[in-house]
Amino acid sequence: MTSMNTATHNAVETAEAFSHLPPLAINPAVRAAIDQILGELRRAQVALTGARPADAHKAESYAAWMRRNNELRGRPTMYPYVGAGFGHGPLVQLADGSVKWDMLSGIGVHMFGHSDARMVEAAIEGALSDTCMQGHLQHNTDVLAVAEILAQEAARASRLRHCFVTNSGCMANENALKICQQKTQSAARILAFADCFMGRSTTMSQIGDTAAYRQGLVLNTLVDYMPFYDPALGEESTQKTLSLLKQAIARYPKQHSCFVMEVIQGEGGFNVASREFLVALMQTCRDASIPVWIDEIQSFGRTENMFAFETLGVGEYVDVVTVGKLSQVCACLFTPEFNPGPGLLAGTFSSSTSAYHVGRRALELLRTGDYYGPTGRIAKLHEAFRRNAQELVQRRPEFFPPVIDGAGRTLPSFIGGIGAMLRLTPLGGDKDKLGALLKVLFEEGVIALTCGHGPYHLRFLPPLGVMDPAQFKPVFAILEKALERAR
Ligand SMILES: Cc1ncc(COP(=O)(O)O)c(C=O)c1O
Repeated sequence: MTSMNTATHNAVETAEAFSHLPPLAINPAVRAAIDQILGELRRAQVALTGARPADAHKAESYAAWMRRNNELRGRPTMYPYVGAGFGHGPLVQLADGSVKWDMLSGIGVHMFGHSDARMVEAAIEGALSDTCMQGHLQHNTDVLAVAEILAQEAARASRLRHCFVTNSGCMANENALKICQQKTQSAARILAFADCFMGRSTTMSQIGDTAAYRQGLVLNTLVDYMPFYDPALGEESTQKTLSLLKQAIARYPKQHSCFVMEVIQGEGGFNVASREFLVALMQTCRDASIPVWIDEIQSFGRTENMFAFETLGVGEYVDVVTVGKLSQVCACLFTPEFNPGPGLLAGTFSSSTSAYHVGRRALELLRTGDYYGPTGRIAKLHEAFRRNAQELVQRRPEFFPPVIDGAGRTLPSFIGGIGAMLRLTPLGGDKDKLGALLKVLFEEGVIALTCGHGPYHLRFLPPLGVMDPAQFKPVFAILEKALERAR
């Protein structure tokens, strides 16, 4: 609805076109005020064109912010990051005046980067609604609009029809697990992939396969881990996992509530399963009446289709899917057969009204824009990343010693990932060296993260909605400088 000329719309057209908007947001005087705000925003953004260092005169106040931050949390945060609340696409300004390339996007949340005028407009429209938060008992049209887009998109290539929205990925996962448990009459065990990540509730921390994240917790969740797809082994990998799955089912007949599959692993290392691998496991689960639940919370929206199950061609097998991050609100989608009994899913609020408006706008842009498909914007972004990465690997081989994986084999490529989930493995994939590199990279002006459980990789989740493929050039120039300092 950007740059709407309010004068040209008659009342009926306006009401129809903006029926998800609160009444105040279609008031012509309010629209004019919003247009003015967006004009000011765009003017201010002109100055942000690249990374730049902090302002010297802000050093002291920034240090004070960080001290307060660290005291409140009880420990230093990984990055000395306190945002100023302003940015321009992939560029974000911090409270010390520095500007950085944000290649992490809040771990995949800010798909339209920082201060995007369309998202700011949507957030203002949300703020003009009657309440800040939306609940499950009382909600506005905004909630339905988002749930409907998700359900419609999911239905294109699966039997998923229903959508229950929540305020975090972890809570979406909790709902998915409850649905699966109820469907299987309280089956106690869970099948999951090794190296998966599922969130931070007590149950999700236990299913997630990272020892440090469940340190000190009471371990009362029964998980059978299955090896993830190993592309180096191909069919052999499928047969190995399939045989372990059959063993687990034979050992615990009718005791599994689900196989939760993070089909593209985020935290685990941007590993991608093959269709053949997934179909073999999913068909086996179906034969044993074990629900198949896909956790797409990190991969949602980032591959060549909105849903990763569509990209991997396994939609017909899924019973439950969870999504989050770039949708702004999170959701659990399920088929009619998995519709749970009353009372199982609820909660006081599901998210803020502005989050729904921004989520709706973002999803609408994603589905109507030129993002998906083999020649879409996401594919082009992926291609540009690979080109820049390949150039760096060839020109500076000293940064890229061989990477040895957990099985003692040399990793065939330093570059990996899928869609807008991008990874690069410098410095031998060594955890400590990459940790040090991230800090130098941050100082130099690029925000990224690692993924994997050994080897470790640099993880990039760029703001796919606004990142121009050409912007990888300055990002890689900074990465090269950081590698020179860190190695
Ligand atoms: C695959 C996956 N599942 C679940 C979650 C948990 O989401 P949230 O942090 O919103 O609770 C994450 C978060 O990184 C994730 O990557």
